[in-house]
Amino acid sequence: MDPLTLKLQAQSAISETENVKKLEELKITYLGKNGLVNQMMKEIINIPSDQKQNFGKKANQVKQEIQLLYEQKLQELSQEGKQQEWFDITMPGKKPTHGHLHLVSQAIEEISDIFAKIGFIRARYPEVEWEYYNFEALNMSKNHPARDEFETLFIDAPVNEKYGKIVLSTHTSSGQVREMLRVGQPPIRMINIAKCYRRQQDITHTIMFHQFEGLVVDKNISIKHLKGTMDYFVKQFYDENRKTRLRPFHFQFTEPSFEVDINCAVCLGKGEINGKKCRTCKQGWLELGGSGMVHPNVLKAGGIDPNKYSGFAFGWGVERVYMMRSDVKIDDIRYLYENDIRFLRQF
Ligand code: PHE
Repeated sequence: MDPLTLKLQAQSAISETENVKKLEELKITYLGKNGLVNQMMKEIINIPSDQKQNFGKKANQVKQEIQLLYEQKLQELSQEGKQQEWFDITMPGKKPTHGHLHLVSQAIEEISDIFAKIGFIRARYPEVEWEYYNFEALNMSKNHPARDEFETLFIDAPVNEKYGKIVLSTHTSSGQVREMLRVGQPPIRMINIAKCYRRQQDITHTIMFHQFEGLVVDKNISIKHLKGTMDYFVKQFYDENRKTRLRPFHFQFTEPSFEVDINCAVCLGKGEINGKKCRTCKQGWLELGGSGMVHPNVLKAGGIDPNKYSGFAFGWGVERVYMMRSDVKIDDIRYLYENDIRFLRQF
């Protein structure tokens, strides 16, 4: 092949090359030991002697030119490669998003820790429960009107002769008699935190919600223990300045029964600030939830002798007590369960 043709051929092949690997192959094809350049050199023997010098000069020139083309291209390609790899090490990295527990789970952990400190053992009982444990065992016989207050959801399942229908437990009190039967003999100090269900949905109610139920049974348990436990809880969960007040109420499964109120964080129970009515509570106190001394019939259902033992119980809404913290502002309880990440992230 004549030097000029070879040079043109090599030139176009090299310029079209897109990567170093192909370029190295071309180097072997042209500049290798048995490559096209050396083959061309060998042709010198067939060249008439008067043209040999000229041919040799040209051939050497072409060899150098191809060598140069190869080197330039190699530099160009490796420059490109470097550009692709280059990155700014001073740029801040992308942080992986950290999830966290749902605020209700956080509240549950906090509540069970507070009660664990005074010896309450966390219990867990079925969400899908027999009517018996939800009502009868709690002194609400079949067709008792008090059942109406618990907007009950029933499961479409065969009715059991002793235990009745299957319901979604309407309160954590359904665990009271189960705990008595499990423990057998007092002392009992249970904290049962669980999902509850009622047929009610509006800005202050969701069909599914959580309650935490305390149950203490032992010798000589009195209202003092109930009151002391309530005060302990609100000081731990809210702040040192909070205290509780018991207001007479009625539940079938406690006697006497109380509604527990907490003094308002803004006016601290006075109901007024500088002679003006407190806008947060209006009368100094806010309602937390129900409580009372365990009814003798409930103790009996749990196999405990009411002449020897007495107890107290309380059952409050987790969402409710959590939302009563002054740093929590949630105007519609349903937000809690819509799983909107923009809402949940705040807590
Ligand atoms: N179970 C009651 C309710 O859901 C609350 C309660 C629990 C009252 C324990 C007294 C004792 O309304």
